[in-house]
Amino acid sequence: MNFNHTIQSYWSYLERKNHPPRYVTKVNTLDFLTLKKAIDNKDISFVKKIIRRMYVNKEAFILKNSAPKKLKKTVLDLANKYKKKKSSFHKMHDGCPNFHRVIDKKITKKYSLYAIKHSFYFYNWNIRTKLEKDLKNGVYKHWRYIKSLAGNGKKRFEENIPSDGQIDRLQIVRYPAGGGELRDHVDPRKNQRIVSGIIMSKLGEDFQKGGFYFRSSKSNKLNIEERLDEGDAVIFYGSIAHGVDKVDPKEKLIWNSEKGRWFIGMFVNDSDHVQNRITAKDLTGSVK
Ligand SMILES: [Fe+2]
Repeated sequence: MNFNHTIQSYWSYLERKNHPPRYVTKVNTLDFLTLKKAIDNKDISFVKKIIRRMYVNKEAFILKNSAPKKLKKTVLDLANKYKKKKSSFHKMHDGCPNFHRVIDKKITKKYSLYAIKHSFYFYNWNIRTKLEKDLKNGVYKHWRYIKSLAGNGKKRFEENIPSDGQIDRLQIVRYPAGGGELRDHVDPRKNQRIVSGIIMSKLGEDFQKGGFYFRSSKSNKLNIEERLDEGDAVIFYGSIAHGVDKVDPKEKLIWNSEKGRWFIGMFVNDSDHVQNRITAKDLTGSVK
């Protein structure tokens, strides 16, 4: 059995035997390079240990140094460039462009999750400029290993277009100072068991309050933002409840500003060519 297949079967075996985790028990720190080397060396026992800890022990990992710190400049430059066009929305059909959208209290009602954020969406069939290539390369050096850990193999879905059903999507997100947030939710595991996001700002510098948390029980949150640095990633099994606490809620929200919390999300989405596509689930009753 090859490496990917072994990982895939190990996940399926654990998923048959155990309920999916809902609450996090522990958040570990690991250097991304350690995970990368283990996967490059096909160290199956190391990989299985991480998988077991994520699924059975309900642990999450902060992967230090998952992306170079200079990626932040690319992210801000891209956001500023895209912002010159109007905020818009495009379904994930063949030929869908990259776009950005301001998601405020009103617009968020159209989504399956409650979020106050400014999102910039990028698809692989639209990667043309140097900035777009830098974003893609910076993220995929990390993402391919997460896909591998998730049992998909490094390159799966990368070249897909919407009519294939599943597509990779990169999302630059700004949770603006002045109340940017993402309420409790779980993510779909169908295409990608492991959720990952690359942190692109620093608590105490870019914003003072709020940030990423896991639910550790129905009534308790574990906010890990102070442990995160630019270039780190946070990875966990998608059924663990998580969100982003309001970023600097006492400030005035200014959409056309850089203030707040930035991150890069990466996800394999069901496209809009898929009937009954599976999306993330809100746990707060904030959306329809
Ligand atoms: Fe999520």
